[in-house]
Amino acid sequence: MRGFNPKTGAFRESPTRRIDRIREEAVKRGLDIIMLSTGQPSIPPPIEAREALARDLLAPYDRKLYSYTPSRGYSSTIEAVILEMRRWGVELERDQVTLTAGGQSALFGTIMSLVSEGNEVVVLDPMYFGYWPLLDYAGARVRIVETSIDEGFQPEEERLKEALSSETRALIIVTPDNPTGRVISRETARLIADLAVEKDFWIIVDEAYRTLVYEGEHTYIYNYAPEHTIALNTFSKDPGIPGWRLGFAYGPKSAVERIRLFVQETVYCPPSVAQRLVEHYLRDDETRMSHLNMVRREYARRRDALLEAIDEMLPGARYVKPGGGMFVYVDLSRILRGRLDSEALAEMLLREKGVATVPGTYFSRRGGEFLRLSFVGEPPERLREAVSRMRALLKEKGLL
Ligand SMILES: Cc1ncc(COP(=O)(O)O)c(C=O)c1O
Repeated sequence: MRGFNPKTGAFRESPTRRIDRIREEAVKRGLDIIMLSTGQPSIPPPIEAREALARDLLAPYDRKLYSYTPSRGYSSTIEAVILEMRRWGVELERDQVTLTAGGQSALFGTIMSLVSEGNEVVVLDPMYFGYWPLLDYAGARVRIVETSIDEGFQPEEERLKEALSSETRALIIVTPDNPTGRVISRETARLIADLAVEKDFWIIVDEAYRTLVYEGEHTYIYNYAPEHTIALNTFSKDPGIPGWRLGFAYGPKSAVERIRLFVQETVYCPPSVAQRLVEHYLRDDETRMSHLNMVRREYARRRDALLEAIDEMLPGARYVKPGGGMFVYVDLSRILRGRLDSEALAEMLLREKGVATVPGTYFSRRGGEFLRLSFVGEPPERLREAVSRMRALLKEKGLL
């Protein structure tokens, strides 16, 4: 064989895919699996939006629905996105939005458009695992700003000021965060925006969970630094269509145009059916907001049930109550005390107890004592059952 482009060595199997493989094997052995590993919503989009889409599909042949769409997406879907962003106080023009094939395609298009070999990219650690291989592929020099559980995973002002300089090409910030659930404070958002303007770097803000906020509110950094911010979004989480692959990016026209061309070169256009559903969802104001409120209430209830179970059954476990998103990032260092790392623990939990989690090492080199637990995929009693199984395993291994 003649070999491969060495840069593609940066692409490794996604951690959650690896977990899926072990899970399938455990299912074959008859284990009942409790899924705390994925950020997959468990509530479908509202029935009104699904019915409207069904009507479109059953209507006489509407050729448009089965055709390629513009690489930017249908103009009617873009308009629905613009109205949606206006609802949250962000004013955008048409050329400032491009639809993508899921959040992942927005991530890839953005990193490929902004970062080249040797560029310095500042990231907050821990960070969503999707970014590490892309930065590696782009040849970025990654500069890490560590955040800690003691500060609620909020980046410290001094550390940000120290790391962000005229050398910086881009800063990546995920808010609400995966894995920590941190919602960036308004003050920090402002500080980052001011630094971006002063030092002239890009802010890549990942807003995948922007509407899933339970306490506080999401700050739209774009409004503070519109010429320096590219915001990445997905419809995988709200309204919950991860398999339908639809997301969007917004920001300055020149940057958005690069991302649009990236979508064109990779998938040609975002999927038509997903665009149609999202359009129905976003245009029906009343249904959209009542659905979102119901989802937020339900996920907050599940989050609280999981945290309560941890408090009760895992003495020594520490976490920051997630203000948004789908996960709690649990520090088990006081339980594990260096005797077992989180990768080994996650594997044992899945193989022996049927509890699927994600080890912290996928998000940070310092993640050896953390597990990421999703609270959205299972009802409260199953979340409790999962923690009880974790307790049983830790006891059996003499760790608790
Ligand atoms: C923070 C963050 N950004 C982007 C993505 C990717 O979104 P999508 O699943 O739509 O590709 C995810 C998915 O979990 C995520 O958690």
